[in-house]
Amino acid sequence: MISLPHHHPVRLRRSVLSVPASNARALAKSAALDCDAIIFDLEDSVLPEKKAEAQAALVSHFAALDRSGSREHVIRVNPFAGPDGLADLETVAACVPDAVLLPKVCEPQHVLDVADWLSEKGLDEAPRLWAMIETAASILNLAPIAEVGRTAGGRLDCFVVGLNDLRKETGIADMPGRPYLLPILVQAVVAARASGLDVIDSVFNDFADTDAFAAECEQGRLMGFDGKMLIHPAQIAAANAAFGVSEAEAAEALVIVSAFAAPENAGKGAINLKGRMVEKLHADQADRLLVKADLIAERKNSA
Ligand code: COA
Ligand code: MG
Repeated sequence: MISLPHHHPVRLRRSVLSVPASNARALAKSAALDCDAIIFDLEDSVLPEKKAEAQAALVSHFAALDRSGSREHVIRVNPFAGPDGLADLETVAACVPDAVLLPKVCEPQHVLDVADWLSEKGLDEAPRLWAMIETAASILNLAPIAEVGRTAGGRLDCFVVGLNDLRKETGIADMPGRPYLLPILVQAVVAARASGLDVIDSVFNDFADTDAFAAECEQGRLMGFDGKMLIHPAQIAAANAAFGVSEAEAAEALVIVSAFAAPENAGKGAINLKGRMVEKLHADQADRLLVKADLIAERKNSA
């Protein structure tokens, strides 16, 4: 059987919380929060004069961190070629997070440079790499950047869209419903999927506006995103709900899977489900949804 890109294993990445590594209170608080992944940020949320302190804080934090659960711990570094690039990667080598999130990726080489550095350090499996999609160049190079995840030894797992930087660079307006950004967001999803990557929607800055946040989560889910990058603990529950599996969706998925398993439908590629065509591909899709629902249930039980 050929392995299609979308057959990568299901991972829970509904809620991906950014925590400034220079904020001791936020760091301390983060371990007890119910998010699927944490991004410890050394980049935009940390002032230049605080970088060294933030790197040291992460090394101590990781030394004491419980890594036994399924939550992913990610470190966002500064650009490799910039003044903090090497010291950040030394921090990564000391912490060995599940993934390194690369900021301001513009071309595949930006991913390969860090992959090579990690390999030379003998870090062959972990960490994986995630890439911020937040520059105009990254939008033009979406497909080639995504493809480096598929090359031999490809470490790239995930795109994270960053609209604050992208709006700053392009001048595209920050408006409810994100009308002028929709083509870009959909391109990011499609490019990610073509290479079997996960894709996380951008942060929503106005964390006090819970209704607008829920609406944007729903929009991201409808576009196909796996989850949302978050800036505040108050956003976690809404993101988990929006990018989770509702009871109705799980029930519907079970109906489809069961229909294909029924003896009267044996050997059929397309079946009639109460006046609606359902194909084997829908059963595969339903299977993945049920796997995701199981992962969510496991996460709840272990919390
Ligand atoms: N992660 C973990 N804890 C956080 C948090 C985060 N991202 N943001 C806030 N908290 C904690 C606060 O420390 C505070 O805890 P405390 O009661 O123990 O002091 C509590 O949640 C309530 O925070 P609140 O007072 O509502 O917000 P704030 O004024 O402390 O912080 C921001 C607001 C926006 C500055 C802060 O949420 C933040 O820095 N977010 C992340 C920014 C970031 O990572 N940017 C880069 C990616 S775009
Ligand atoms: Mg950014």
